[in-house]
Amino acid sequence: MLHMKKILYIDGDGIGPELMAHARRVVDSIAKVEWMRGEAGFAAYQKTGTPLPDATLQAAKECDAILFCAVTTPPNIPNYKSPIVSLRKELDLYANLRPFSTLPNVPVPFPALNFAIVRENTEGMYSGIEKREGDTAYATRVITKDGSERIARFAFDYAARMGFSKVTIVHKANVLRVTDGLFLETAREVAAQYPGIACDDALVDSVAMRLVKSPQDFQVIVTTNLFGDILSDESSALVGGLGVAPSGNYGAHRALFEPVHGSAPKYAGKDSANPTGMLLSTAMMLEHIGEKEASEKLARAIRECYLQKVTTRDVGGSAGTGGMVEKVMGLLG
Ligand code: NAI
Ligand code: MG
Repeated sequence: MLHMKKILYIDGDGIGPELMAHARRVVDSIAKVEWMRGEAGFAAYQKTGTPLPDATLQAAKECDAILFCAVTTPPNIPNYKSPIVSLRKELDLYANLRPFSTLPNVPVPFPALNFAIVRENTEGMYSGIEKREGDTAYATRVITKDGSERIARFAFDYAARMGFSKVTIVHKANVLRVTDGLFLETAREVAAQYPGIACDDALVDSVAMRLVKSPQDFQVIVTTNLFGDILSDESSALVGGLGVAPSGNYGAHRALFEPVHGSAPKYAGKDSANPTGMLLSTAMMLEHIGEKEASEKLARAIRECYLQKVTTRDVGGSAGTGGMVEKVMGLLG
């Protein structure tokens, strides 16, 4: 008998539980998976005293993929660690992939964009090494040869798999000569192993400008942690905002999928959050576990739903969350 894939789902906080319930319903209608529930986030903290209970971390290590919605990170609890940051670290999910594709009928400045940002997720400016000495504070920006190599390889493999013909290495090696010098040099070495895919490089500040001016220049961007964090939020505005942006976090053996947005507490329980980011992340998860057909079916149904203009308010429609999900389900065919 075929091994049924085990999916750990983590509802999170705010709009998390309702979006997750919709996503699971959609999955159950197009694929067979075994669900395991994991708690994490502020509600988990209030209940168990930790935002990432050991049982959740253990389950995360044993499942085939993790589907995560969003968590609330309270600003004023000292030493509170966001469970998503801990999960990325504990599971060594080194590649953060964010695809950006315009959807039909969403008012955006550039039609028909299709590009992706691959962000290094474990080192760089977010190495977690910070100190303060009197009135001077330091953060250590860690770039390793191995870390740069594996993220560049991920970007080129992704480009090859998805039919992109160019990868752009984004850096600031003119100023950060040593750290980004190593990143650029290593990424170029990897590029040389992919003769079928063009490679160029660009400075991060100019890329921030070009994303607003001529985003169609880009196909796959690969960059370090902080730069990728900023450029990917900027890019989500090009395709309709936080509500529509999906992401995947990949390690050598594990992967976690989540919408880019947070827990949007003011939308919680109001049936008004856009389910697109969550559903597109779910489609990425289905692809990852080998359910390619179900994944494509879901992505197609979401596009069709936009063509028929059954969408939430943030993207110019008037549907509620549930109404939009019902429409998508009806289009799964
Ligand atoms: P947020 O992404 O939750 O919301 C920002 C704004 O984006 C919202 O006010 C809303 O206008 C819009 N938005 C977000 N998701 C949407 C959706 N599905 N449909 C329609 N509009 C949507 O970010 P915010 O307000 O900065 O943070 C709220 C909480 O979420 C905080 O506790 C923060 O720490 C947490 N957060 C968690 C993340 C995660 O779990 N990965 C990521 C970002 C924030
Ligand atoms: Mg961010």
